[in-house]
Amino acid sequence: MDAAHVDSDLVNVLFTEAQIHEKVGELAARIEKDYEGQDLLIVGILRGAVMVMADMARAFTRHVEMDWMAVSSYGSGTKSSGVVRILKDLDTDISGRHVVIVDEIIDTGLTLSWLTSNLTSRSPASVEICTLLRKPEALQMPVDVKYVGWDIPNEFVVGYGLDFRERYRNLRDIGTLAPHVYS
Ligand code: PRP
Repeated sequence: MDAAHVDSDLVNVLFTEAQIHEKVGELAARIEKDYEGQDLLIVGILRGAVMVMADMARAFTRHVEMDWMAVSSYGSGTKSSGVVRILKDLDTDISGRHVVIVDEIIDTGLTLSWLTSNLTSRSPASVEICTLLRKPEALQMPVDVKYVGWDIPNEFVVGYGLDFRERYRNLRDIGTLAPHVYS
C-alpha cells in the first residue's frame, strides 16, 4: 500500500519507500562492518519490526541469524509503567553471542531499556540496539542506541510496520497520521 492509497489519512509523508530502503541499507552496512568476522544474531521486536528486519537481513552480504521477541506493557496498558512482560521469548540461547536488537521506533525508551537489561542478564558477548526511528522529545528513559536511522519529531507516525489500531503497518512509506484519524 502506498501513501496515495491513504492520502487523506496522512498529514505528510516523512520518508518514502526509497529513502527507507537506502537508510536500512546504510544501517546494515555499518553493522556488517562493526561485526566483521564475528557471529551475529539480530533480534526483532514483534510486531512493528517485521519490515525493517526483513529488509535489513536481506541487505547484509554475510550470514546472520534472526530471532524474535514479543513484549507487552503490564497492568493499566500504558507504557509509562515501564514494566514489560514477555509474550514470546527468544528461541535462541544468546550466552556468549553478539546480539543486535532491531526495532522500528524508540518512543519513550521504556521497552528497549527494559529489553536491553533483560538480554544483558543472559550473558551475551554484547548487546546493541538498532532502531529506524527515534523520538528524542518523547524519551523518558535513557537508552544507549548505537544505530539510529532518523530522529523525528514527537508526532504520530505510521507505516513500514508502525500501526494505528493495527492498520497502516503495510504502508510502504512512513507518514504522519492526520489528527482526524485518531481523535
Ligand atoms: C513499539 C515499538 C517499540 C515500542 C517503543 O511497539 O516497536 O517496541 O513501541 O515504544 P517505547 O519506546 O515507548 O517503549 P508497540 O508496543 O507499538 O507494539 P507493536 O510493535 O506490536 O506495534
